Amino acid sequence: MIRLPDAVPTLTMRGISKRFAGVQALKDVDVEVYGGEIVALLGENGAGKSTLMKVLGGIHQPDSGEILRDGRPVTIRSVGDSIRLGISFIHQELNVLDNLDIAGNVFLGREPVRGPLRLMDRERMVHETQPYLDQLGLRVPADLPLERLSLAQRQMVEIAKALSLKARVLIMDEPTSSLTLTETARLLSVVQGLRSQGVGVVYISHRLDEVRQIADRVVGLRDGRNAGGLTREEITHERMVRLMVGRDLAPAMVPEARDEPERPDLLTLDRVRTRRYPNQEVSFAVRQGEILGMSGLVGSGRSELAMAIFGVEPPLSGTIRLGAETLEIHSPKDAINKHIYLIPEDRRRSGLIVDMTIRENIALPALDNFASLGLIRRGEEADVTARAAKQLGVKAPGVDFLAKNLSGGNQQKVVIAKWLSLSPKVVIFDEPTRGIDVGAKAEIYVLIRELAKQGVGVLVISSDMEEVLLLSDRVAVMHEGRLTGILDRAECSEEAVMRLAVGG
Ligand SMILES: Nc1ncnc2c1ncn2[C@@H]1O[C@H](COP(=O)(O)OP(=O)(O)OP(=O)(O)O)[C@@H](O)[C@H]1O
Ligand SMILES: [Mg+2]
Repeated sequence: MIRLPDAVPTLTMRGISKRFAGVQALKDVDVEVYGGEIVALLGENGAGKSTLMKVLGGIHQPDSGEILRDGRPVTIRSVGDSIRLGISFIHQELNVLDNLDIAGNVFLGREPVRGPLRLMDRERMVHETQPYLDQLGLRVPADLPLERLSLAQRQMVEIAKALSLKARVLIMDEPTSSLTLTETARLLSVVQGLRSQGVGVVYISHRLDEVRQIADRVVGLRDGRNAGGLTREEITHERMVRLMVGRDLAPAMVPEARDEPERPDLLTLDRVRTRRYPNQEVSFAVRQGEILGMSGLVGSGRSELAMAIFGVEPPLSGTIRLGAETLEIHSPKDAINKHIYLIPEDRRRSGLIVDMTIRENIALPALDNFASLGLIRRGEEADVTARAAKQLGVKAPGVDFLAKNLSGGNQQKVVIAKWLSLSPKVVIFDEPTRGIDVGAKAEIYVLIRELAKQGVGVLVISSDMEEVLLLSDRVAVMHEGRLTGILDRAECSEEAVMRLAVGG
């Protein structure tokens, strides 16, 4: 980017501090954003990225510091103030409303009206929303109810909303965390288009590849403070990691040489059909002590299979066996009784109870283990949960901290900790490291491998190709509800997986 010497930043944050009860989330943070540049904000889980952006978005009031827009001081007291200043915010946790349609979400709070009765002009909303959907490659009608969309598509709706607001500053807090390769590529090109129109973009992501692709500059945060920055020329994977973590990374991020003994089948699916793809039968087995990766495009039916195994949506037909035993799984409770656990994709919907503490969340499925004579043995429970949380490096002042006040990545760790504190036989991870920083990712990989070493059958559903290749002993690939192949470690390559993912 060429910047004139006297150019004024579109946005300046100076000396921003913010303290929550027990947590200094931000301390004297300075960030500038110029029109026509993409600034990547990097930092570990809990470093303060979302908090800083929420100050810009009018969600949090800073304790001190100032914000300038085009060089002039402004106060942002509400979301409305922020929007009026031309700041648009795509949140890390989805903000869309399920009971409205796409257009209703895009125009939420500023619905056009017509006629003397000032009725909502539905037709115009739908008409004006459609081009944004087309631009994003979302091939659905604008009057489709949100509940009919996948997680990735919902995220796209948030982005369509931001585009329609025609912002001068666009904040994207992990916009691609649930998108696949193709969707991500499209989004990145939309962002680059906005940059060339002079929009200043703040981009938060734990996917360092895409940061390297699009960022003009990197700003690092560590423990709520500025940790330095990188210019375009300085942006490499290693330097970004060092900026965030303050050290080089654990060896967990390289594939592990694992001996491959004959492993017996542990969890066997025999001609299982799910409601999403009633005409397809899927058969395969997760072996004892193996990590079976499951790849495929979004919508290929992987999550549905996971939900079938876990009893969220029992299969239409077919059998599931654990060892030699045929299972009758009608609800998650049945699966849990058999020590089969699912760590779901959408933690806010099915993994985490945000109004409970870390301790309550981790102890929840295990209450039987802790209850004696109808009383919960608080001390022991606190011990076990503290250990589980510590093992995963959950960053919080203590286990009595409310889950909703944790950073996104740390919420994910709590969900994982909750299941690992039990003694699993089969664990299904659905997108286990979405939104997880590189350091914590390494820790989670170590944990997953440890589970397998203990003889647990691990199924890892992941859209992150690097992750699949790094972790898996074998990779199963799905395409439109069908299993298109299972690759042994030796046959695994990005190419081979992609070929099967598009239909084989
Ligand atoms: N409402 C709140 N009350 C108390 N503490 C909070 C609140 N919101 C955030 N925090 C704390 O502030 C710190 C920074 O959190 P923040 O969400 O900004 O991190 P982040 O950098 O966005 O992390 P991630 O990569 O996991 O999304 C964390 O320690 C978090 O627990
Ligand atoms: Mg965040």
